Formats: sequence, C-alpha cells, structure tokens
Amino acid sequence: MVDVRIARMTIGDYRFIKEHVDDWWGRPVRQLLLPLFFHQLGRWSYVASCGSEVIGFILGFRAQRNPLEAYIHMVGVHPRYRRMGIASNLYLLFFSSAVLAGCGLVKAITTPANQASIFFHRSLGFRTVGAIWDAGKNVFVEPHYAGQDDPRVVFVRPLGANDLFKWDGLFNDGEDVSGREECLS
Ligand SMILES: CC(C)(COP(=O)(O)OP(=O)(O)OC[C@H]1O[C@@H](n2cnc3c(N)ncnc32)[C@H](O)[C@@H]1OP(=O)(O)O)[C@@H](O)C(=O)NCCC(=O)NCCS
Repeated sequence: MVDVRIARMTIGDYRFIKEHVDDWWGRPVRQLLLPLFFHQLGRWSYVASCGSEVIGFILGFRAQRNPLEAYIHMVGVHPRYRRMGIASNLYLLFFSSAVLAGCGLVKAITTPANQASIFFHRSLGFRTVGAIWDAGKNVFVEPHYAGQDDPRVVFVRPLGANDLFKWDGLFNDGEDVSGREECLS
C-alpha cells in the first residue's frame, strides 16, 4: 500500500516535474510545461507525492473563453506508480476545485495514439467530441485541433455537486508543502 499525499503544486515541484516528465512519458513533452501554468494558472495544479518523491501531477485551469469550463492541460504519473488510482484522485480533486468555483464542464485532450489516456478518461466518465469517428479506437477525433493534420481526441465531462470532495488522498490547501514528510506520519 502506497501512502500518497496530494497538495497544491509548488515552484520546486514544477522544476522537478519539468526535469522528469520526458522520462515519465517516454517521449519529449517538457515543452508543454510552460512556466505560465505554474506562475499565472497554478491554483488548480496539484502534485501527488510519496514521502519526499513527487510521483504525479495535474496542470489545469479555468477556461478564459468560457469561465464555466475547466480545462486539464496535462496529467502524468511516474511509471512505477501507475494503475493505483493516482491520476484519478488528481482529477477528482481538480473536479472539486472546479465545481466549487462554479464550473459545470471539464475538458481535456490527448493524441489519438495515447490509448492509456483514452482508457483513463473513459474510466472517469468523459466522452469524446470531434468531426471524425475513429471506429478502431472508438473515439471521435478533431482532425486539425492542434494545427493542419495534427489531430487530438477532445474529452468533455459535465461537472456537478456529485463531484465535490471525492478524492482519497490527503490534501493540504496551504501554499507551502515543504513539511511534506511530517504530514505523512
Ligand atoms: C494516463 C495516466 C495519467 C493514468 O494514470 P494512472 O494513475 O495510472 O491512472 P489510474 O490508476 O487513476 O487509472 C484509472 C483507470 O483508468 C484506466 N486506465 C489507466 N491507465 C490505463 C492503461 N494503461 N490501460 C488501460 N486502462 C487504463 C483503468 O480503467 C484504470 O482503472 P483500473 O486500474 O482499476 O483498471 C498515466 O498512464 C500516465 O502518466 N501516462 C503518461 C502521461 C499521459 O499520457 N498523460 C495523459 C495525457 S496529458
């Protein structure tokens, strides 16, 4: 049994994640981790940790075009800690934050090749929207979402009162999580 704690992301966590995220994905993705996601949009970004080790994170924010929507930019879990419910708990905490702020819908995207991500989003009740039906993968795809011939699977899920306070992990709502080890005891 792994003792996992979830807390708001700090700048130290952000730097750590940026260094390790390519290894977690198995391909270069660190360019997606822009500093603005921490500095300007950071309040709905969380990390999961085990002891002093960061083992997962979520980066999300309220949409500006439609403030009733929340958007998840990135989620990642250390390969050694997958299929333990860590990403699900990060999502559930994010859902709760978004509902408390008045959001009624959450969106996320992934590449059509990312089967794990597609399964993961399905497990949390997301459906896909897009112009083309990919029967092989059982998803709608938006063929030019990220540019000409650069498709993405777009996930949407309604949010409501049932999404409040569903995560299992501990959560420290303070900005300073330097005392992480203490909180585990
Ligand atoms: C996708 C990812 C975030 C899932 O994290 P996780 O902590 O392992 O997910 P969870 O344990 O919460 O999984 C919840 C459910 O999602 C589904 N799921 C997750 N990963 C899956 C996989 N590889 N294959 C099939 N189903 C999967 C399962 O239904 C799972 O429930 P179960 O384990 O009881 O069967 C993780 O695989 C990851 O970090 N991948 C690399 C980064 C990435 O692709 N991020 C998404 C795009 S930004």
